[in-house]
Amino acid sequence: MKRIAVYPGSFDPPTRGHTDLVQRSLVLADELIVAVSRNSSKEPLFSLPERMEMLRAAIPADPRIRFESFEGLLVEFARKNGATLIIRGLRAVSDFEYEFQMAMMNRHLSSGMETVFLVPPEDATYLSSSLVREVARHGGDVSGLVHPKVAEALRRRFAK
Ligand code: PNS
Repeated sequence: MKRIAVYPGSFDPPTRGHTDLVQRSLVLADELIVAVSRNSSKEPLFSLPERMEMLRAAIPADPRIRFESFEGLLVEFARKNGATLIIRGLRAVSDFEYEFQMAMMNRHLSSGMETVFLVPPEDATYLSSSLVREVARHGGDVSGLVHPKVAEALRRRFAK
């Protein structure tokens, strides 16, 4: 049976940590759905279409990977798409509590749903979308942290 995994997130914007995780996930799944959340509690910097476009630009085309957006409960989205695995990145101990609670809640809501945590490359453990936004907002150099198209989108967004 085909194993389908979902990699959910806000991806506002996608970073090198995200794109690395996508590639790593492919050893665990036959098909990977990169699922961009519509209903962020925070006002996103980039619109949903912009985030989808950045992900498509940053992740090399692969027939095993597709990009979707979702609203509402992640487990509902996963179930509708036949996914049984949720992929999340774990960078540091500080991520653990929130991720652990979310994994437990998702399994409570959908009993067959397992969450798999993958760790980013060592030099990306400090990397987060919010830090990238912060650095870019103040004109800092984000090349090397994000795909060049994402860096360009950040430059345009924060251009005076
Ligand atoms: O990149 P993020 O912001 O850490 O991603 C969080 C996300 C979108 C994966 C999470 O908030 C989510 O799954 N939202 C959908 C609503 C839901 O199902 N929440 C989990 C139940 S605890």
